[in-house]
Amino acid sequence: MNLLITAGPTREAIDPVRYLSNRSSGRMGYALAQAALEAGHGVTLISGPVSIPAPVGAQVVRVESAQDMYEAVRSHLASQDAAIFAAAVADYRPAQVAGQKIKKASEQLTLQLERTPDILGSARAVFGFQGVLVGFAAETEDLLAHAQEKLHRKGCDLLIANDVSRPGTGFDSEENEVTLLFPNAAPRPLPRGPKTAIAREIIRLVSGLRRPPSIP
Ligand code: CTP
Repeated sequence: MNLLITAGPTREAIDPVRYLSNRSSGRMGYALAQAALEAGHGVTLISGPVSIPAPVGAQVVRVESAQDMYEAVRSHLASQDAAIFAAAVADYRPAQVAGQKIKKASEQLTLQLERTPDILGSARAVFGFQGVLVGFAAETEDLLAHAQEKLHRKGCDLLIANDVSRPGTGFDSEENEVTLLFPNAAPRPLPRGPKTAIAREIIRLVSGLRRPPSIP
């Protein structure tokens, strides 16, 4: 199979030296890429800025902003059998990027933010992707209800939900504890464990979800 994986945070520029971002380390996405390569799949890894090395054998496309990631996914998605969206994409970006470094002036500064494109949400609706579609949902409350809603709204075959309010799992941690949601099956919690082990299990499942080719 050919798999596209998004990973890491995005950076949304405020001015030439500042940006908005989040705590994503990229570990979950990179572990998925490594597990997919070990299972013999071709991997295109579309990665925001991270400090961990890329898995050997992956085609790595480095991006900064949500808009860059959107364009990179758009240009690589058509040839994929499955796509896993593990990136922590910024939902908002500054509405205006200052051309010069913003100087201190008044006591308060208000940044106007605008929505970024929803990349996973565009896979089916805008890019017409027909392959296996996998999303993540990071939640701090009502985990299953919010994740179930995302699974359906974004047209996913599998949604991996994690409660990011728990210490030691999720964002910027070595370990994760996730629940797998499918459109027509009961939620399946996975035991807490290293992201590498969770990644292997997700890749095993994704390989089994392979969709039949669509009839033209
Ligand atoms: N995602 C994406 N593009 C965005 C935002 C999110 O591709 N602009 C993807 C993430 O990679 C993840 C999934 O959508 O696979 C869910 O991300 P999450 O931040 O939990 O959900 P949102 O759609 O942003 O919803 P909300 O912020 O309202 O919880």
